[in-house]
Amino acid sequence: MTTRSLTWTDDLTLGIDDIDREHRGLMEVVNEILVACDSGLDSAMLGALFAQLRKSSLAHFAREERMLADTLYPRLTQHRQEHAELIEQLDRIAAQAVREAEQGGVADATVIFLRHWLTSHIVGPDRGYSGYVKGREKRIRGGAE
Ligand SMILES: [Fe+2]
Ligand SMILES: [Fe+2]
Repeated sequence: MTTRSLTWTDDLTLGIDDIDREHRGLMEVVNEILVACDSGLDSAMLGALFAQLRKSSLAHFAREERMLADTLYPRLTQHRQEHAELIEQLDRIAAQAVREAEQGGVADATVIFLRHWLTSHIVGPDRGYSGYVKGREKRIRGGAE
């Protein structure tokens, strides 16, 4: 099984620096997991990487939701729901991957799901708010006045 790492592409850049930086950070963790799946890292280490991704994702989602609340984004409730679903999906992928690692190797289908897990949210719902938020950054608490 070959598990190519994700590479950053222009369509992932939203033009909101703090958010782009966090998205790149999350992608790095996803890539660590992809490498781990490829190299047959033991299931406990794999579980630890997934725990790290979950923690970083929760922090990122909270930050994003604060930004959307500060800018009065009209689709905040729906975006919050999408984040909750992403965490549920991640928990399912993590449990599946750890189980498969214990049984000899993470299946391609699990890897493919993980590869799309982050990027499909960035190019979809996140890109959806970027045009709205840009130009309203001054409303973000702690942002530059
Ligand atoms: Fe988001
Ligand atoms: Fe995001």
